[in-house]
Order: sequence, then C-alpha cells, then structure tokens
Amino acid sequence: MIHKELKPFPSTFLWGSASAAYQVEGAWDEDGKGPSNWDNFVRIPGKTFKGTTGDTAVDHYHQYKEDVRLMAEMGLKAYRFSVAWSRIFPTGKGEVNEKGIQFYSDLIDELLSHNIEPILTIYHWDLPQALQDEYGGWESRKIVEDFTNYSVTLFKHFGDRVKYWVSLNEQNIFTSFGYRTALHPPGVKDEKLFYQVNHHANLANASAIKEFRNYVPDGKIGPSFAYSPSYAATSHPDDVLAAENAEEFNAHWWMDIYAWGTYPKVAWDYIERKGVAPTLESGDLDLLKEGTPDFMGLNYYQTTTFEKNTLDGVSSGKMNTSGKKGSSQDTGVPGLYKTIKNENLERTNWDWTIDPTGLRIALRRITNRYQLPILISENGLGEYDTLVEGDIINDEYRIQYLHAHLQAVQEAISDGVDMLGYCTWSFTDLLSWLNGFQKRYGFVYVNQHEEGTHDLRRIKKKSYYWYKQVIETNGSILEFAETSRESK
Ligand code: BG6
Repeated sequence: MIHKELKPFPSTFLWGSASAAYQVEGAWDEDGKGPSNWDNFVRIPGKTFKGTTGDTAVDHYHQYKEDVRLMAEMGLKAYRFSVAWSRIFPTGKGEVNEKGIQFYSDLIDELLSHNIEPILTIYHWDLPQALQDEYGGWESRKIVEDFTNYSVTLFKHFGDRVKYWVSLNEQNIFTSFGYRTALHPPGVKDEKLFYQVNHHANLANASAIKEFRNYVPDGKIGPSFAYSPSYAATSHPDDVLAAENAEEFNAHWWMDIYAWGTYPKVAWDYIERKGVAPTLESGDLDLLKEGTPDFMGLNYYQTTTFEKNTLDGVSSGKMNTSGKKGSSQDTGVPGLYKTIKNENLERTNWDWTIDPTGLRIALRRITNRYQLPILISENGLGEYDTLVEGDIINDEYRIQYLHAHLQAVQEAISDGVDMLGYCTWSFTDLLSWLNGFQKRYGFVYVNQHEEGTHDLRRIKKKSYYWYKQVIETNGSILEFAETSRESK
C-alpha cells in the first residue's frame, strides 16, 4: 500500500522513551528493597555476559533527577518506567515499604513537573525472590492474589497522577525464557510447567486490569507484548503453514487472551493432545474476559522467518549474547516450525533483523485482529557505541534505525492504525539483561561497563539531538519524498 500523502502524527502523540527498574535503578538492596529473582540469578556464574549485574546498573535510583532533566531538555512527552515489586513489598506481600513508594512518587512528581507523562509498568520481570522461594512464584496460583494486591497498592498511591499503565511486560518472554529455554530465572526447562505458569500470568494480568477499573477509572491500561511477526521462508505451502504455526503459538497464544480472553483453538487442541495444556479452574475464563485492556502495548524489535520443521527436526539453538555477529543459531519446535535467516534483511551485531516494514506489518495485524489502539512501548537498536574525544558519540546507525521505524509508524497511521504513542528503548543506556552494558540502546550514553568502576556520567549522543527535533516538529521532519517511499 503506497499512500500519495501520509497522515500526520496525532497532536496528542506520546513521543516517549522507556526503561525497566532492574536495568536502570541499581541500589539493589537500599532503602528496604528486598531481593528479586534477578538479583539472585545474575549471581549464578555463567548466566550473564561477563557476570554483569544490576547492582548499580546506571544508578537511576540516585540520579533520576538528572535523567529527568535530560528528558525535559529533549522535550520528551512520555517516560515509561517500571516499578520494582520488591521495593514496594520486600517479600512480595505484607507490609508496604514506604521508602519504595516515596521513590516512585518522587519520580512521578519530577516527571509531571516537567510535563512528561509517566507510563508506569507494574511488572518488568523482577519478581520478589521471597515469592519464588515460598511457592515457586508464577508456578502457583497464589501469585494472582499477590500480584493483584501489589497492583492495587500502586493504583491507590499513583492512580491520581499516572494515567497510562502497562500491566505485564513481555509475558511471552519472561515465561518462555524462564520455563522453556532456561535463559532467565528461574532457569527451568519444562513445557507443561511453562503453559501453567503462563496461565497464571494471564489470570494475574486480567485480575489487575479488572481492579484497575475501580481505582483508576479515567486511566488506560494494557500489557506490553513482544511481537515478532512471522514470515514464511518461501511460498511453499509447508513454509507458509510453518509461519502460520509460529503466528498462532507465538503471538495469538498471548494476544487473543489479552484482547478476547480466549485461547486460540488450533494451538489449544495441539497442546492438549500433547498433554501439556494448563489446568483451568472454574471462573478462569470468565476472569480472562473481564480483564481486557484499553490498548495493546507493542514491543517491536524484529521479524522472524520460518520454514517447515519435521518431527525429528531442530529444537534448540544458541542465542547471540556476545555481540559477535553470526554467532546465533536457528531454533524451532519439531513438527511446527524452525527459524531461518532472512537474506533480505540486515542484522545487528546481536543478529537481530532490522525490518521497519515489519513494524508496519505488526501494527496492521494487531489492528485488524483486535481493533485496539496501540502504544509502541519499546522499539530501538542495541549496538556498540564508541565514545570519542570531546565526549562525542556519533550513533548515526541508531538515527537511521529509528528514523526508518518511525516512517513505518507514520505509514501505519496512514493505513488507519490508531496509535497512542511511541517509546524508544531506551532513554539512557542501561543493562541489557544477558548482554552486559556493551549492547547500548540509549539517547544518552552512560559511562558504565562490564568491568571496573566507572563515573556513570551521562553524555548526549547524536541521536539525542535528532529525537529532540522529531518531537519539536511532531514528526514532520520524518516526512520523505513519495519517490523514496516507492523505491523502498
Ligand atoms: C525487551 C525487554 O525484551 O527488549 C527489555 O522488555 C530489553 O527489557 C529489550 O532490554 C532489549 O533486549 P536486550 O536483550 O537486547 O536487552
């Protein structure tokens, strides 16, 4: 679809940027915070690149005023951040830690005083370790009550000031990495447990959203989903079917629940026959239908290409967490699909495909299937950055990446997609869970590395000035000639 003219970005468009508590805050055991599952996991040798931890991260806990000042100077309209559950409830439940509430309250006030809309993520992967120890965290239904209580505590304290909320960040990633590939805590590989854990997360998500209506009636809430649209490797029907399989198991499996409260039929039948379907209790499906969101949060980084995988085919491949281009391996699920390199697409040094059109496809697929407004809650480029003399970081590659993706957003808006806003990942550099600090995403460089102690000073990258202009012009500097659109 080539438009003669593009629609402008809406005047209310939230030009934002995002982060997560564990990746930026540091202060891992300060002011009464309890340990999280990540605080423990990173201490197991070999789990993260060069054993990096978020103990200090980029010290946002102490430097948030400076970070917000830089956001304000840029003209940022929205900042998405997450709350560390174990700052609010050190053991996941019980007594509220007032100092934890105070920190987020101060951060919210600081943002509002600079006209920056806070977008609060309730859960971005850092589970109180006490809940993991007590009942296996997401493995038990007990989590639904504790998560709801934690969410309600946040609604009560911040609902007067925060209008945009993200419930769970990338449930598909934290459940799959936690219970299928074992790359994230608790580092388990158990397919049946994975589906059960995921069902509990669905219930917790719906329960929190249901309560949200009582406490923040004028607010908007939705989950953030890591959607990587599936492409077929060839037009061979077997490959097309493989891509369909991937779409059903990797996307509809979650987004159908969010939007409609129902599991997709074909995928459900498959896992039931395999004997790994989750146990549903009476009332579960009603709750899932009662807790549907106001918008779909989309975390978009790349597309994935699939081909047929036989029953004795590939089942696991290595992820590139070293930044050595070409070190990732294809992976798959026997009998469903396997991934294959898409020769049409460039890749980053971490082997993530670069595909702005994939973002437009993602936005259109979500719109057509669910008819919900979309908040792009993450999109960005993780790359090496070089600090050169004079405190200069010329991250032209990041500008190109974001520019192309924002053009795709504008094209999607012109296609009829209802967009609330766009949060880049990330504002400052931060800890990339498994990849250390060398995989950088920010507009603001932070002098932090895997080894040694550093001064953590903030330095604006070239992309900082570029995004400032994008915001100032409400995206009109992204406009490009019709010819360049046609030649894409
Ligand atoms: C998303 C997460 O999966 O992608 C972020 O919500 C994460 O927390 C981001 O940092 C980029 O992934 P990575 O592995 O490059 O840090």
